[in-house]
Amino acid sequence: MSIRFDNRVAIVTGAGGGLGRSHALALAARGAKVVVNDLGGAVDGSGSSAGAAQRVVDEIKALGGEAVADTNSVSTPETAEALVKTAIDTYGKLDIVINNAGILRDKSFSKVELADFKLVIEVHLMGSVYVTKAAWPHLQANNYGRVVMTSSASGLYGNFGQANYGSAKLGLVGLMNTIKLEGQKNDIRVNTIAPVAATRMTENLLPPAILESLKPELVTAGVLHLVQENSPNGVILEAGAGYYSLVQIVEGAGVKLGAEASVDDVAAAWDKIADMSKATPAFSSNEKLATIFS
Ligand code: NAI
Repeated sequence: MSIRFDNRVAIVTGAGGGLGRSHALALAARGAKVVVNDLGGAVDGSGSSAGAAQRVVDEIKALGGEAVADTNSVSTPETAEALVKTAIDTYGKLDIVINNAGILRDKSFSKVELADFKLVIEVHLMGSVYVTKAAWPHLQANNYGRVVMTSSASGLYGNFGQANYGSAKLGLVGLMNTIKLEGQKNDIRVNTIAPVAATRMTENLLPPAILESLKPELVTAGVLHLVQENSPNGVILEAGAGYYSLVQIVEGAGVKLGAEASVDDVAAAWDKIADMSKATPAFSSNEKLATIFS
């Protein structure tokens, strides 16, 4: 094992099962001290139990690793603060934050209750905001930080019945896009994982033969790359079944229609405007504006 996390303190949210458990075990196996956070509720976010996080801590300790359980919910500012406090009180500092906790309240847009829409945003998007915001001053003081957002193909591309989840998941990319810039001067790097894995979230959605190939550990390999010392900054990594690919937001080369452009001109030029063959990404909106006005 050449990539190590000795002397690193990591928070993994939603680490009582599924992907978070796998990330926590792998970080601990490579030397990190891990705060295993989990509220211990059901897939839809109902209920809670202290057992989930503690079981993973017991597993880590049985393997000779260091970990502490935390049962705070990520979805309020106060409990997110308390979660970060667990890391600081127990281990004295914080280096790595993996925002992974999540729930589902799937329904088509016409049927979804606004309360369920808000709840999903509150756990995935605001939960990552609350935890990362509470962690940020510690990462700044540390002059080092690695933060991961957990997105999803549902947010990047869309998925029937997941308007709430997709909104939250793409919102996380927007969050990353700005704080990856703001963190640079303190060597805080922020990346996003878009996983596919067999967990309780997907166990009823995919056939068993496919689920067998979707081991959480294969996503974890990608996540650990995103939080290691030589990590990239500001990437979206898709990972599942041993397949790893980058996702980027790109913009077409565009067409200059000038100061008098009308809807008729836009319609007439549509094929050229929609030509993505020379599309390019940008690291910031300033970079993109520079291209537009060049
Ligand atoms: P999971 O249901 O096993 O894990 C989610 C964990 O988050 C659970 O242990 C749950 O108790 C915990 N949690 C929920 N609300 C919480 C809260 N308010 N505070 C603290 N913990 C809370 O499901 P899985 O698949 O491991 O999901 C992990 C992440 O990966 C989620 O963000 C999910 O949306 C995302 N994801 C998973 C995919 C997959 O194929 N499994 C696909 C795309 C994204």
